[in-house]
Amino acid sequence: MNEKIKYSKGSLILPVRIDEFLYENFDNHYSVFYKRKGASLLNELCDKYGSDKGEIQKTGHPYSWPSHTYADFLERQFGPFRTFVKTVFECGLGSKNPSISSNMTASGKPGASLRVWRDYFPFAQVYGADIDKDALFNESRISTFHCDQTSSESIAKLWADIGDIQFDLMIDDGLHTFEAGVSLFVNSIHKLRDGGVYIIEDVIPSSLVSFAEFFTSKNYNYEFINLFRKDLRLGDNSLIVIRKF
Ligand SMILES: C[S@@+](CC[C@H](N)C(=O)[O-])C[C@H]1O[C@@H](n2cnc3c(N)ncnc32)[C@H](O)[C@@H]1O
Repeated sequence: MNEKIKYSKGSLILPVRIDEFLYENFDNHYSVFYKRKGASLLNELCDKYGSDKGEIQKTGHPYSWPSHTYADFLERQFGPFRTFVKTVFECGLGSKNPSISSNMTASGKPGASLRVWRDYFPFAQVYGADIDKDALFNESRISTFHCDQTSSESIAKLWADIGDIQFDLMIDDGLHTFEAGVSLFVNSIHKLRDGGVYIIEDVIPSSLVSFAEFFTSKNYNYEFINLFRKDLRLGDNSLIVIRKF
């Protein structure tokens, strides 16, 4: 291996300080290098419904920023188990309201990612929540509810409204602050079934350290996933994945 390749950890988009934090604080890590080959249903569905979790087409999206590459990772995780996933929850529907934090801008498509999950997991019931009441909707195999993820009371009401359901997959694509992420997690992790997966999206490097301290102190089984795409520097293209087993 020549020097240039040895230094390839520098190709991570993380600032050096965070890069060093990861190497010092995690005993293990692995890298996965892949090329996209053949069809990718999950990326196609993101294009179809307008979620920024992935893309096939480079243009024509209802948002103006580069897509994430979460769909690539998620398809590798869940592709073989599509028919086994029966219950999905996502916080963050995709508000069009510019006065609401983390909105998808006025051209956004509320409910995009819930429709992606509904089509990708053919036997799943999909549940969603958002602080924007105007983004709520119900349609085939999708139900949505109001919730402010920064409020324990609001989250408790959400679970009372949804009822006695355990989830195979839970996704936090809401406000994206560390405090909001922890608030939703501590008030919702009891809803993840044994063997289920909980994903926090858009983890920015500066909140990674706080998340790492939080999950380590609680002894959770968690991973930090830094996704990378050639020629694209996305500072918020990282996930935290918590596995319940
Ligand atoms: C990035 S958008 C979600 C995009 C959608 N998941 C998709 O992929 O199409 C983030 C959403 O989080 C919602 N949000 C912001 N603050 C929130 C809060 N405190 N509680 C719940 N949802 C919140 C916004 O209204 C917005 O709809």
